[in-house]
Parts: sequence; structure tokens; C-alpha cells
Amino acid sequence: MSAYLITHLPINTSALFGYVSNQSNPRRERKAMEKENNDALVEVMSNKQVIYREQVRGSLKETNLEVRTSSERLKANSGPGTIFVKNLYLACDPYNLTIIKYLTQLGSPVTGYGVARVLESRHPNFKKGDLVWGITGWEEYSIITAPETCFKIKHTNVPLSYYTGLLGMPGMTAYAGFFEVSSPKKGETVFISAAAGAVGLLVGQFAKMFGCYVVGSTGSKEKVDLLKTKFGFDDAFNYKEELDLDAALKRCCPEGIDIYFENVGGKMLDAVLLNMKLHGRITVCGMISQYNLQQREGIHNLMNLILKRVRMEGFVVSDYQHLYPKFLETVLPQIKEGKIVYTEDIAEGLESGPAALVGVFSGRNVGKQVVVVSRE
Ligand SMILES: NC(=O)c1ccc[n+]([C@@H]2O[C@H](COP(=O)([O-])OP(=O)(O)OC[C@H]3O[C@@H](n4cnc5c(N)ncnc54)[C@H](OP(=O)(O)O)[C@@H]3O)[C@@H](O)[C@H]2O)c1
Repeated sequence: MSAYLITHLPINTSALFGYVSNQSNPRRERKAMEKENNDALVEVMSNKQVIYREQVRGSLKETNLEVRTSSERLKANSGPGTIFVKNLYLACDPYNLTIIKYLTQLGSPVTGYGVARVLESRHPNFKKGDLVWGITGWEEYSIITAPETCFKIKHTNVPLSYYTGLLGMPGMTAYAGFFEVSSPKKGETVFISAAAGAVGLLVGQFAKMFGCYVVGSTGSKEKVDLLKTKFGFDDAFNYKEELDLDAALKRCCPEGIDIYFENVGGKMLDAVLLNMKLHGRITVCGMISQYNLQQREGIHNLMNLILKRVRMEGFVVSDYQHLYPKFLETVLPQIKEGKIVYTEDIAEGLESGPAALVGVFSGRNVGKQVVVVSRE
């Protein structure tokens, strides 16, 4: 099986977003690849990788993954339409768990969003030296077989790692989820769960700049303080210390909630349903509290949608990719002018990848969790 072949297919399921690794017939693809490899321009002799080693049962654990160095030769010339890349930064997204659990074969490298340098290209849109972000492998070098799904990085006057978060998929998620799905109005009260995560921090800042009253929930006192002092949230609470989430919401949003930006699901959603205002909107971005459960929790207060005429709508970021240029036009100047505060949690080296990814599901990260593969 090819550990290197990464194919991206747009997928059309409500549970997922973005693109996934296609490992449908890796042996045949590998053979075809080897046939075309004779005149390779770049060749690497080893490739450190994070491998999906043992099936995930319940929560993701570090032991489900393994860092290995493959000594199989990897050549750049892998066939028409492909690019050969050196991976620089990898994103730890909750999405990685979906890919691992449902789309990765045991023994294959983990895949997910990352930033990479093109070492060789057999695709007309890319050339050697280009920087890209998109789905790649958790390994030093990857062959991307459908590079048209990657975005070329044109603005390099910001740290490149930002394209795993603020200027990449999570940033687009916050932007599309808030401006396109939530129908915000000035002066409204916005409540965001997982507010100190990559998406939540940005939704909060977009909402604040738009003129909303912004409240967040997160899982530690340190993060609550950061939300209020560094990221401009009007109020925040630590959901792990609140015995009564309904009471916490009534304390922080006494007039009720106009927009709930849903990142966690479960008990928080139930409590929010009791606190929505008339004609409120619930933008369902994610439900991280449910991803590791074998038996998902039920929701009890949905009747409030009727009484309060609330619109609850899920969305998937890949449906909004056409807005990426507009998003950059908005956000790049905001970064330059210091209007957006951004924070990253950096893990150095592929070896630290498994722990960093597992940490996202217990809230160990503050801001975007990034794994540095190489600073070039
Ligand atoms: N719809 C889409 O297209 C789309 C795209 C990207 C992301 N998403 C979703 O958006 C959400 C946020 O993603 P992100 O990239 O911001 O994540 P992130 O930066 O990785 O942060 C995730 C945070 O969620 C919190 N969390 C973890 N387990 C939790 C639990 N059991 N209960 C409550 N909070 C928990 C943790 O912070 P605390 O300290 O607060 O616990 C953690 O730091 C996720 O649900 C993700 O699946 C959806």
C-alpha cells in the first residue's frame, strides 16, 4: 500500500467537510505511480510519518498513532497532475479524528490540513517553490494527486503557519459561519462555545468588530481570562466549573441569546435552547463533545425552536470555498492593522503530533494547535 499517495475527493456528506484521502485502490495506484517514476527529479530516501496504528475505540489516544520513519524511496515524478511537497506545518483539527476513524486504513499516514512547499510539480497550476495549503499527509514529504484542491499561498508577509488556522480552513469556517449563516445584526448577543479554539476565537472577534455583544464558554480559568483580556469578549465562563449551565448563560446573557455559534453540542446545546431569544439563530458548526462518545447524548429542549421561532442551521465550510478571496481581502488588512488577535499552540516536530492532536479533545490547546514539521 502506498503510504504517500494522497488523493482528494470532494465529498458530499453532511457529517464531513473539505476533502479526504482516497485509499480505495492504493496498490493499483502505487503500481501506476512506480511506472512513471523513472525520470524522477527529486528523490527522498526516508520519510518520517505519523501512522494510524491501532483502531480508535472510544476516545482518540496517543497509542492509536505511531511515529515511524519509512525507508522506502519516494520520487517526485509520480504521474501527471500531481505535486510532490515538503510539509512544513500541520493543523490539529477536530476533523482529523473523522478522517482517522472513517477514512484512513490502518498502517497509512494520518491526513489533514497543512502548509507545504512544492518541490516538484506535474500540474499546470503549480510550480516548484510554490507554497500551498490544503489536505496533505502527516509526514515529511507527500505526493498530492489532486493538487487543484489545494490553495496557492500568495501572501507571505504573515507567518506561514497562519494558513493552518486564521488564514486557512478554521478562519474560513468562522467567517462563513458567522457572516453567511448566522445573519448577524449590530447589537445582538452572540454566544460561542469552545470559544478559545481556533474557530471560536475568530467568530468572537468578527462578532465584536461587527458590533455584537459577545460571550464565550471554555474549559479553564486561564482561557476565560484570555477571552476577556486579550480577545475582547464581553464575558466568558468556564463550563467545567459551572454546575448549572442554564444559570451561567442567564448570568452572562441576561437578555437572552440572538446567535448561538455551536461548537460543542450535548448539554451546552440543551442549556442554550432555554436561553434563545425570539427569532434567534443557532449556527451548528460542530459538536466536539460528542465525537469521542460511543453513545451520543440526546437533546431535550428542542421544543424551544418552535416557541421562540429559532432557526437552527448546520453548515460545512467547503460549501463556501468560493468566498476565500473575499475572506482574504477582509482579514489580511485586519491582521496588518492589529484588529485581529491570533494565538497558536505550537508543537515542535512530527513526534509531538499524536499528543498535540489528542490534546485538542481535552482542551489542552489554547488557540490553533499546530505541529511544525519543518521551518525549511
Ligand atoms: N462545519 C465545519 O465546516 C467546521 C469546520 C471546522 C471546524 N468545525 C468544528 O468547529 C468546532 C471547533 O473547531 P476548532 O478548530 O476551533 O477546534 P480547536 O481549536 O481544536 O479547539 C477545540 C476545543 O474544543 C474544546 N473541547 C474539546 N472537547 C470538548 C468537550 N468534550 N466539550 C466541550 N468543549 C470541548 C476544547 O477547549 P475547551 O478548553 O473550551 O474545552 C478544545 O480546545 C469543532 O466542533 C469542529 O468540529 C466545523
